[in-house]
Amino acid sequence: MTALPERVTVYEVGPRDGLQNEARQVPTADKIRFIDALVEAGLKNIEITSFVSPRWIPQLADAVEVARGVTRKDGVTMSALVPNRRGLDAALAAGMREIAVFLSASETHNKKNVNKTIAETLTAFEDVVPPALAAGVRVRAYVSTVFGCPYEGEVDPQRAVDLTRALTAMGVYQVSLGDTIGVANPRQVDHVLDLVLAEHPIETVAVHFHDTQGTALANCYVALTKGITTIDSSVGGLGGCPYAPGAAGNLATDDLVGMLHAMGIETGIDLDKLIEASRLAAAFVGHDLPSKYLKAYIGKQARARRRAEHADEKGAR
Ligand code: HMG
Ligand code: MG
Repeated sequence: MTALPERVTVYEVGPRDGLQNEARQVPTADKIRFIDALVEAGLKNIEITSFVSPRWIPQLADAVEVARGVTRKDGVTMSALVPNRRGLDAALAAGMREIAVFLSASETHNKKNVNKTIAETLTAFEDVVPPALAAGVRVRAYVSTVFGCPYEGEVDPQRAVDLTRALTAMGVYQVSLGDTIGVANPRQVDHVLDLVLAEHPIETVAVHFHDTQGTALANCYVALTKGITTIDSSVGGLGGCPYAPGAAGNLATDDLVGMLHAMGIETGIDLDKLIEASRLAAAFVGHDLPSKYLKAYIGKQARARRRAEHADEKGAR
């Protein structure tokens, strides 16, 4: 079998990518409890919110309160999306020590998402990345729609290469390649990663899959064979992008961690506690979450309960 990494960093984006897409406004106190539960489960990188316009993403309008309310723990990095200088100032004032900038590989999605061309967005980052770095804040970046755009369809893989180059030259420590609408297939992931990794060290590249068509875990496997050691996911499979019609939830952290542990790859995450965090999220969003691991876990518990009841009944007879 191809050599795979021994350890993977799971970059949890549920509180941001997940909750930005929920119809129901989740109370700030529930978000904070949720993030605390993720920390308890052993996640070391958590994207907790976005300092974006509340007109564009009303679900995350409480960014400051969330950032100030979560329990900070040594060794746990909390991050937030920042689109412009105003967002950076708010993030810094709220105590963020890591931020993420974002843009798309396709013009139409970029325009719909941040109301700028790709070139204008890169220019706007000049106002964000250098001052963030000067303040000692780490900066990550997303390139969205790398594998397909909801408006333009196919996207030239060279876009991911060019944008990764531009972003790393600016000083971001890692670029996460996003399959925003969940259309990537394993062969495509193999090809894009070959192109990007030809220019960049492995630790500077992460992958971010949505699971619209059920290909996210297969795509992760291909990324692992390339040596990728950071994978984004969202607990329970919460998520989507409000400016990407058809985008389903992110790859579920539960499914990813379940697969990695079964393969003997370490994550430092406690799966039972992760499931508790998924259940907490399902309760406050008010609907079932798509994670398959979560469903299987609930099924297993129900079977164990039935067996125990059956044994009790037999004992009483
Ligand atoms: P705009 O309308 O062009 O900008 O939006 P503007 O400067 O005219 O500002 C509009 C209003 O927002 C103004 O308020 C500003 O003050 C305010 P008004 O005067 O009308 O009351 N504003 C802000 N408020 C708070 N924080 C800020 C901020 N900036 C402006 N930082 C803008 C441009 C970029 C602000 C807007 O388009 C925006 O916020 N977009 C965010 C979109 C977003 O968050 N999308 C989802 C995340 S991306 C994603 O999900 C993909 C990813 O997961 C990877 C993948 O899956 O591929 C990362
Ligand atoms: Mg996403």
